[in-house]
Amino acid sequence: MTQDELKALVGQAALKYVVPGEIVGVGTGSTVNKFIDALATMKDQIKGAVSSSEASTVRLKALGIPVFDSNEVESLSVYIDGADEIDHQGHMVKGGGAALTREKIVAAQSKQFVCIADESKLVNVLGSFPLPVEVIPMATARVMRQFAVMGGTAAVRLKDGQPLVTDNGQHIVDVKGLKITDPVVFENTVSQWPGVVTVGVFALQKAQVCLLGTSTGVKTLTF
Ligand code: 5RP
Repeated sequence: MTQDELKALVGQAALKYVVPGEIVGVGTGSTVNKFIDALATMKDQIKGAVSSSEASTVRLKALGIPVFDSNEVESLSVYIDGADEIDHQGHMVKGGGAALTREKIVAAQSKQFVCIADESKLVNVLGSFPLPVEVIPMATARVMRQFAVMGGTAAVRLKDGQPLVTDNGQHIVDVKGLKITDPVVFENTVSQWPGVVTVGVFALQKAQVCLLGTSTGVKTLTF
């Protein structure tokens, strides 16, 4: 199976975690796009979605799924989202699509995080995928120096030759060369640095379930 087919497989499999009559939390990315397409087949059974990005909002609305502001909803039963890496404890690196801040917000208001990913995303230690960090632009150079002290090499993410601007009007730095052996401590530490909006380690808002697309079908990992 191709990676695209594996993404479609887990997108479809995630439907069984959607609670009829409720609002579902929806992440961002190519795997989530498959989930959104599958969700459209049961749109009459749900109230709608809280979305983690402008891109997902556009896709949801185009398919006729109502999108609620996260402030309108106290809590969600489930949040479905992809990951750039997930370890065997359910800790993740996220933000490859630059939506990490809103993803962490929606994950925090959800009782269960169901990660959908193809098997290439499962790792023993987080850090091979360049770690996305959303930063306030005036702090970028300082944050990059702090990562250098940790042994990482940070670069500002560009789009069309200019720093990419997130849905929140901030920038992203991607950090290579880290080995994140204690994701909870790492997330807590980096989150305290002045100017860091969100670090792409999801250890405090980790997954409880991962639907992993493999050549032999969908494996369900629970954490
Ligand atoms: C976006 C994310 C995505 O979940 C992550 O990048 C995985 O994306 P994809 O499903 O396209 O591989 O964190 O900010």
